[in-house]
Amino acid sequence: MFKLPKLDYEYDSLVPYFSKEMLEVHHSKHHQAYVDKLNAVMESLPSLQTKSIEDIITNLNDVPEEFRVAVKNFGGGHYNHSIFWKFLSPNGGGEPSGKLAEAIVNKYGSFQAFKEEFTKKALGVFGSGWLWLQPDLSIVMTANQDSLLSQGLPAAILGVDVWEHAYYIDYKYNRAEYIEAWWHLINWSQIEKTL
Ligand SMILES: [Fe+2]
Repeated sequence: MFKLPKLDYEYDSLVPYFSKEMLEVHHSKHHQAYVDKLNAVMESLPSLQTKSIEDIITNLNDVPEEFRVAVKNFGGGHYNHSIFWKFLSPNGGGEPSGKLAEAIVNKYGSFQAFKEEFTKKALGVFGSGWLWLQPDLSIVMTANQDSLLSQGLPAAILGVDVWEHAYYIDYKYNRAEYIEAWWHLINWSQIEKTL
């Protein structure tokens, strides 16, 4: 059975950018709900129960059709959130360094230009979804809880949850303020290690 991953930081450690309540509700209620619903579906899929979440959502065609949409939504929700938490740190923010910084400058001209482009696209996601940064530094959106892996794309090196459930407690409907706060939390030193 899948489990809600423990965070590498405390619920109150991303203050003032994400309040304790916002982080706690997002992790312990919203993410937990995806885990619970995924586990409920997996009870009907014994042949998949030994597989990793990455494996399952990469190979959605192996899921019997009647369960496929549920696995895509709940499995995608579990996977997307699991990586999202890893991109954050109480000591995050600022700018990347080393070869990641160089690659961003090569592709976008400057870190500031990259930040503006990513922010513009995050604000442009219609409805609920995610915005991701690929290892080649291209920016890709997925709708709802669709995952990059299900679309045959590599795992993201960075991504942001733009579902309203991610920010309504602190920022109401104001996605722009939430995205601006999120930049202060990005765990660049960890992301650099994944390249
Ligand atoms: Fe979320």
